[in-house]
Amino acid sequence: MTILVTGGAGYIGSHTCVELLNAGYDVVVVDNYYNSVPEVLNRVETITGKSLKKYECDIRNREGLEKIFAENKIDAVIHFAGLKAVGESSRLPLLYYENNISGSVVLFEVMEKFSCKKIVFSSSATVYGNNPIPYQETMTTGDVSNPYGRTKHFIEQILGDVYTADNEWSISLLRYFNPIGAHESGLIGEDPNGIPNNLMPYIARVAIGRLPQLTVFGGDYDTKDGTCIRDYIHVVDLAKAHLCAVDKVLNGTGIEAYNIGNGVGYSVLDIIHAFEKASGKKLNYVIGGRRAGDLPAFYADATKANTELGWKAEYGIDKMCEDTWNFQTKNPEGIK
Ligand code: NAD
Ligand code: WQD
Repeated sequence: MTILVTGGAGYIGSHTCVELLNAGYDVVVVDNYYNSVPEVLNRVETITGKSLKKYECDIRNREGLEKIFAENKIDAVIHFAGLKAVGESSRLPLLYYENNISGSVVLFEVMEKFSCKKIVFSSSATVYGNNPIPYQETMTTGDVSNPYGRTKHFIEQILGDVYTADNEWSISLLRYFNPIGAHESGLIGEDPNGIPNNLMPYIARVAIGRLPQLTVFGGDYDTKDGTCIRDYIHVVDLAKAHLCAVDKVLNGTGIEAYNIGNGVGYSVLDIIHAFEKASGKKLNYVIGGRRAGDLPAFYADATKANTELGWKAEYGIDKMCEDTWNFQTKNPEGIK
């Protein structure tokens, strides 16, 4: 079976390629390297001892995508390719709508043309907006406060319409919570360009000395220690959820959404303390003001993924922090 992985050189995509190759799938990656480097895919090959097929191509490039489908018999697609910076999406909404939504529509059209109707889509917990916690798949989605999140909501809706029009499609919408951690080899991990927006890569860069200090965004929330609560999930657990979802889409039709989280909420201070333990370093941080748009607390009810996909997260925050630190120390300047 051959799986096309869009955005396969990225953070979650590269870890998923490792799991797919280890499980015996043939893997074809398409990535424009906007937020990644080709070396990541060499490292995936080093980790697995297997090779994958690589195409440097933008998913908005219809001819390029058609060439990939013509040259490979693709059985299913895992669609990671997209831009993901929440703050940037508010400054550059059209870039996000163009890249994420137009790119996805081109991909779905090419899939249809080549009669490949099986897809796993990278959605996000952000689609739940301000719902009560824990988030459940039955809740209304779409009350989202930024263009990035709206692209995820719209693409879910588009795939819903695609399935309504043609019941031969088989679609899994995976709503990720907060992925952190790295492959335990330390060869691949999260390596954002510029100053990180997300908590864990920021912490790792402070610990390694590339950034001077972490600011905790808000210490006055109505939570156990005043800082925000999130459901952090090890990226390898998340990658394994894609194996289960691929299996599901290959063996049936329909459209389903799944929460992919641990079901446990940790505060920012919990993460800082776990990271200090894993790294043996005292982290330089201050409590600052709240970040606009942050919700006080959210975490997953992952029962549906547990029962229907047969998937369950295995790793806790200690392992997430250890693997992040291992990756950071082995790649102090990132992956070149
Ligand atoms: P990432 O930026 O590391 O990976 C995305 C990859 O897609 C990159 O390699 C990038 O170069 C590529 N890409 C972007 N636009 C492209 C295009 N038009 N054509 C071809 N390639 C393109 O991000 P990630 O953290 O691995 O996230 C993967 C997916 O999961 C994204 O869709 C993201 O929105 C979603 N997601 C991520 C998180 C998170 O916290 N990391 C949470 C929920 C959902
Ligand atoms: C986590 C916690 C911050 C940085 C985002 C997207 C979401 C999803 C995952 C894609 C929050 C706090 C952070 C810092 C801090 N992505 N923080 N200081 O905001 O939960 O989710 O990434 O779909 O859509 O919104 O993740 O890692 O940015 O923040 O105190 O320098 O860490 O306030 O409580 P978030 P995050």
